[in-house]
Amino acid sequence: MTSLFDRFEAAFMPNYGVPPVALERGEGSVVWGVDGTEYLDMFGGIAVSSLGHAHPALVEAVSKQVATLAHTSNLIVHPREVELAEKLLGLLKAPGRVFFANSGTEANEAALKLAIKYGKQTGRTSFVAAEMGFHGRTLGALSLTGKPSIRDQFGPFPLDVRFVPYGDADALAEAVDGDCAAVFLEPTQGEAGVVPPPDGYMARAREITSSHGALLVADEIQSAIGRTGHWFAHQADGYLPDILTLAKGLGGGLPIGACIGFGPAGTIFEKGDHGSTFGGNAVSCAAALAVLDNVDLDHVRTVAAELREGLEAISHPLLKGVRGRGLWLATVLTEDRSAQVQAAAQRAGFLVNALQPDAIRLAPPLVITSAQVQSFLTAFPSILDEAADG
Ligand SMILES: Cc1ncc(COP(=O)(O)O)c(C=O)c1O
Repeated sequence: MTSLFDRFEAAFMPNYGVPPVALERGEGSVVWGVDGTEYLDMFGGIAVSSLGHAHPALVEAVSKQVATLAHTSNLIVHPREVELAEKLLGLLKAPGRVFFANSGTEANEAALKLAIKYGKQTGRTSFVAAEMGFHGRTLGALSLTGKPSIRDQFGPFPLDVRFVPYGDADALAEAVDGDCAAVFLEPTQGEAGVVPPPDGYMARAREITSSHGALLVADEIQSAIGRTGHWFAHQADGYLPDILTLAKGLGGGLPIGACIGFGPAGTIFEKGDHGSTFGGNAVSCAAALAVLDNVDLDHVRTVAAELREGLEAISHPLLKGVRGRGLWLATVLTEDRSAQVQAAAQRAGFLVNALQPDAIRLAPPLVITSAQVQSFLTAFPSILDEAADG
């Protein structure tokens, strides 16, 4: 019989390659393959499955909503979108306005359109973003993405984007001038390898952009919704961006993105400036409300500390160190063997993500238990042994 992988390969465009595992179902932080194999999910569908799999509150919220009213379009208001926008603004503790999209890249497209409009209003034409930063795959978000391997072949782009080394505040200060409409930054670079900047970098970015009248856009698509132990990473860094973008963990597996403008940035769009048929659909909003009601930040901090301390206590020739924040870590290897680590982990019953040749991303569901963290920590040295040999 033809395997699911062969059928995938025959039916799909080759952009993802053929993934190494096929899953059928999940419960909490545990997932089962189509062949019945059990795994501990240590990467949460790329930091998306905040409540793990089949969380009763998410299942109930989504089931109830889809059975009541799934879609209205944005020509009609529905209660869930208003409740969700208000809930997010409450957690943000800052006056703002919300636009809902369906994904991270779309949230950033909205942010970019706000920045372009702001630039036209104030006579600014350039943008600044970080080398190796990732903001999405649609053309606007891609033009801000500083990863040459995924960006260059689709250029040139019609925007003047200047890339600066991430984490270097002096380089940022040099690049931002009175012509800069907006600076786009991740508070920790996710796709680059879960790379946090030096302490104080984002607050400096806030000072630099404010002093030149440029907007600061914080792309928290990967870092928000409790992932770092805070609702939003910027809350721990002591600054407020002009624009914040969210997606991934917000819907806990249902597609939703958000672009939030604070203060004057919340009213740059006028009627007709932007839109989305599905953005803010009732089912995704119901899912996001369930996520926000059920993420337990104290729990995240506790298990995150256990995971980090446990990893830091492991001494292994293939393990160089650990970086990241909260339940969003990269184990950094001494050699480019992340593919071997991912494969060895899978054989041992753990799903991890070979993010960079020398970095493994861990972004488990925020509901992962201490016992599950311990089981991974116990298995990790022999996973590294196997990867070092293999
Ligand atoms: C920081 C950041 N921005 C934007 C995106 C794009 O999000 P999406 O894949 O939902 O379009 C990602 C996805 O990895 C991301 O990590």
